[in-house]
Amino acid sequence: MKEKLEKLKQEILNNLNKAKSLDVFRELEIKYLGRKGELTKILKGIASLSVEEKKTLGKLANEVKMELQAKFRQAKEAVEGGASGKEFVDATLPAGEKIKKGRLHPITQVQNELEDLFVSMGFMVLDGPELESDYYNFEALNIPAHHPARDMQDTFYIAKETGEETKSPIGDLVSGVSREASDLVMRTHTSPVQIRAMQKYGAPFRGVAPGRVFRSENPDANHDHTFYQLEGLMVDKHISISNLTAVLKEMLSGILKQEVELRLRPGYFPFVEPGFEIDVSCTICNGPGCPSCKHGGWLEMLGAGLVHPNVLRAGGIDPKKYSGFAFGIGIDRLAMMKYGIDDIRLFNSGDLRFLEQF
Ligand code: PHE
Repeated sequence: MKEKLEKLKQEILNNLNKAKSLDVFRELEIKYLGRKGELTKILKGIASLSVEEKKTLGKLANEVKMELQAKFRQAKEAVEGGASGKEFVDATLPAGEKIKKGRLHPITQVQNELEDLFVSMGFMVLDGPELESDYYNFEALNIPAHHPARDMQDTFYIAKETGEETKSPIGDLVSGVSREASDLVMRTHTSPVQIRAMQKYGAPFRGVAPGRVFRSENPDANHDHTFYQLEGLMVDKHISISNLTAVLKEMLSGILKQEVELRLRPGYFPFVEPGFEIDVSCTICNGPGCPSCKHGGWLEMLGAGLVHPNVLRAGGIDPKKYSGFAFGIGIDRLAMMKYGIDDIRLFNSGDLRFLEQF
């Protein structure tokens, strides 16, 4: 009996060593340790033995059973990759390479905030082309060709190849082919979207159009050839300057995270009448004057006014029935004020030491 037991134990261990899959373990478990298993049969047979034999053999049989059960468990865990395998964490290993997260450009952050503010006031957010026709950029905005108002915005005209060997006033002679200005310009402001919006949606209308604009400027700390604006337009019955100031105050207080006062000065923009230059109370000193506001207490922020009747007409809206306000704000300037940035050229510099601060 004892030998039989030892032999069986050896046989089971051999089979266990060979087994690689869970299915095989389960089969072996049933074959040997199950209710009708071979080891179970031997254990049952012990009952009919003499008291003396029962003592020694019973003990041995139980030991074999326990040993085999433990072996089964271990072998199964090794295959499953359980507690002893898969979950082992080596805390002494180096942490590995950190993945650098990108971030939004400060201008994009301010633009997103502006869009959210206007959407909350029921404005739609519009897009317009950066390469714009002379008609939308100037003509429809009440700035006729040859009018001195065109001088207010230094413009990049797009050249047109004529194939003729003559030199145009604004073109230059490139490899014997003369080039003259086409009727396309890099838009100098976001105002052309006013016309496009009125033509598409009619009145009443509430919308903003953020985007990139271009001017033929010599860059300095306050001017760049490429910058961002947000245009606002609201057309409805009985729109007045108080509607304009209410919306602007809401926007500026929202972005600058403090209550601001507005100051309206008369300003000339051909597409509004009356037109204003609008200043906000200095966010650093709140009025009395400090170096940031050059001791004036006010910071020049944006241009605005009531939409000129000619502009409403160009947009297909009857100025006798409807009126509107429009404004254009420099997003770069707003971001400079919000974050205390002193050079506009940093925005397009691609300098990570600057960009990673936001
Ligand atoms: N388009 C003007 C500019 O770029 C700003 C402006 C927009 C002024 C709307 C009045 C009304 O200077």
